[in-house]
Amino acid sequence: MAKIPKNSKFVLCLVFSMIFNLLFIINLYVGGGWNLSWSSRAAEEAEAVAAISCSGHGRAYLDGLVLDDEKQPLCECNTCYSGPDCSQFIPNCAADADEGDPLFLEPFWIQHAANSAVLVAGWHRMSYSYNDKTVISKVLEKHIRKLHSLVGNAVTEDRFIIFGTGSTQVISAAVHALSPDNASSPARVVASIPYYSLYREQTDYFESMHFKFEGDASPWINTTNTSSTNLIEFVTSPNNPDGQLNKAVLHGPYVKAIHDLAYYWPHFTPIPAPADEDLMTFTLSKLTGHAGTRFGWAVIKKKSVYERMTMHMELNTMGVSRDSQLRALKLLKVILEGKGREIFEFGYKTMKARWEILNQTLSLSNRFSLQKIPPQYCTFFQEFRESSPAYAWLKCEREEEKDCYAVLKAANIIGRRGYMFSAEDRYVRLSMIKSRDDFDALIERLKELVSEEESVVKGT
Ligand SMILES: Cc1ncc(COP(=O)(O)O)c(C=O)c1O
Repeated sequence: MAKIPKNSKFVLCLVFSMIFNLLFIINLYVGGGWNLSWSSRAAEEAEAVAAISCSGHGRAYLDGLVLDDEKQPLCECNTCYSGPDCSQFIPNCAADADEGDPLFLEPFWIQHAANSAVLVAGWHRMSYSYNDKTVISKVLEKHIRKLHSLVGNAVTEDRFIIFGTGSTQVISAAVHALSPDNASSPARVVASIPYYSLYREQTDYFESMHFKFEGDASPWINTTNTSSTNLIEFVTSPNNPDGQLNKAVLHGPYVKAIHDLAYYWPHFTPIPAPADEDLMTFTLSKLTGHAGTRFGWAVIKKKSVYERMTMHMELNTMGVSRDSQLRALKLLKVILEGKGREIFEFGYKTMKARWEILNQTLSLSNRFSLQKIPPQYCTFFQEFRESSPAYAWLKCEREEEKDCYAVLKAANIIGRRGYMFSAEDRYVRLSMIKSRDDFDALIERLKELVSEEESVVKGT
């Protein structure tokens, strides 16, 4: 065989190596499409719907309504916008500040479209259970623990974690689990006024021989050491509706507490220390804004309580939708990738700006006032932070204006009456966590209301 000169060998190697690298690069950047088979159509569909802009005042969804002659789903418009592409502004529209729909985080997820998308195969987790025969994704559980440790808002070491279809279901399971099943009278379920209405509505609805809703916690404060009545206190921190970092007011041998920490995230409050309570509930709804995913969880100290809650979940729904668990996992991964800084900075800045605008708007008013929440040191941001509450707890100050909801309704503002929180109707809760369009409409209507007040004062 003819001998190849040494430097020709080197040139040949170089040429092969260049061709190989070129093919590799082409495959990496262009050839991705060749490798995708069943998923490319789903990705195309998702991107086509995402590309419908709805003029920035609405959104189209893969499962949105489609007219017979159209192929694309219709735009679903925000408050005060209408038309096929949501471009028509409706002047003097009603500002709906009623619901706690956490759409303020939607722009964050649009910015993070690439890393937050999930593609679900037709055969994804069809089974009733995971491989370990449980209904809980262990990977998701691990990510939840990591997140709490990163944010520093809850102790999870040596604690049990249970999932629910939203914290709404977790709360129901907790009331069942903390109620004695052999006592002669039902446990009394109480909370400090103002409190989130679900506690009353749900406990009343599911009332049994084991538990009963009793309302205000304060009459029990001085009796817990002498009475043998079983009590379950709801402690909401930050509180819905007034954003205060509430503490339990009842203590004693027959008192148990459910700490609802739905809003104990840096968007809404400085985090002074990790919570270390016996039973704490959380929800994806107020953490990532994905209320529609219906995913909540509880962190529990006692094994017996964990087991009773697990039994409740299994008899109730056999656990949380595996699709929701997959989605929750993806969202938590995005948060953890950015070490929480990105989403919490975004959430905090948005909520703080809204709170400042609202305060500024009402600063000239003697007719309305807002709750005060002192700044605190936040261990997550490692600095003092102002409050950035999810809701305004607005008070009508005029003696004769006892129905504050009606006062606002007349000005085209829909809030949630104080009565719903077992408080006076002199108070109204205004939601600040909805979309930007909702918040803008709220501020416009409030400005009109305050300027009316000013013109009456000036006699113009
Ligand atoms: C204090 C509080 N707890 C629980 C919930 C229920 O949340 P989820 O969407 O997880 O059912 C809410 C919802 O607004 C809430 O405000």
